[in-house]
Amino acid sequence: MLTVRAPATSANLGSGFDVFGVALESPADVIRVERASETRITVTGAGSQYIPEDPDQNTVGAVADALDAPAHIKIDKGVRPSSGLGSSAASAAGAALALNALYARGLSREELVPIAAEGEALVSGEAHADNVAPSLLGGFTIVTDDGVTQVDSEIPVVACLPETSVSTRDARGVVPDSAPLEDVVDTVGNAATLTVGMTRNDPVLVGRGMNDAIVTPQRTALIDGYEQVREAALEAGATGVTVSGAGPGILAVCRERDQRAIAGSMVDAFDGVGIESRAYQTRVGEGARLY
Ligand code: HSE
Repeated sequence: MLTVRAPATSANLGSGFDVFGVALESPADVIRVERASETRITVTGAGSQYIPEDPDQNTVGAVADALDAPAHIKIDKGVRPSSGLGSSAASAAGAALALNALYARGLSREELVPIAAEGEALVSGEAHADNVAPSLLGGFTIVTDDGVTQVDSEIPVVACLPETSVSTRDARGVVPDSAPLEDVVDTVGNAATLTVGMTRNDPVLVGRGMNDAIVTPQRTALIDGYEQVREAALEAGATGVTVSGAGPGILAVCRERDQRAIAGSMVDAFDGVGIESRAYQTRVGEGARLY
């Protein structure tokens, strides 16, 4: 039996829609795999009641098929589904790493990215690598049609997850088909600023670079309490706030010293609009780990 811990991730970071992603030190899924003649999946942990165990309907089943690696796969969810923290991607990335090792397929982590992304397609309708790439590779990742660029980073963040959910399909439905050139120019500038901030571990540059006028405003309308939580986080010292992935999770970037106050203020702000939430005080961290 092999065990993998695969981290939650936050995709987009505002200005990097479908391009940027970061691995988070916590929460994480734990995936255990054992060789078997047919794939069987069991799911426990956070939100497991919403996750199908049928291999034809589970991201991890698609990964086992793609690697021709039938196994008994036990998934212990630390990353709640439909939260905006790459829940299905963590399972897909973890299973890809575990099954690759279990069957000695010899693929690199980079080569496992498209395989894990295929699993993602089952959930979101499209194969995005912006969550599976950071979950496999760690740090900050830039996914384009030409491949993945990765850089290590340790930026502190607070990821606040309300007890509400937004489906990725719905969140993609509000993305505009086109954007004014002025907004595109702003977003390119912000994305470049954010990238430099990641390489310098500078939360001020990262926060400034998270601004996006194209996709994020459409999505915040789907998240009850977003504006209140954003304001509260900024007042408590966050250097930038945006929607995590497709939402409803909200990601605040900050200096380490402000993390606790920001987490408290975000939870309080959600509470103020009658929504329970949980805030993870974490940082950008390493990719999936094989034990
Ligand atoms: N980039 C994707 C989105 C991430 O925002 O829709 C969620 O799968």
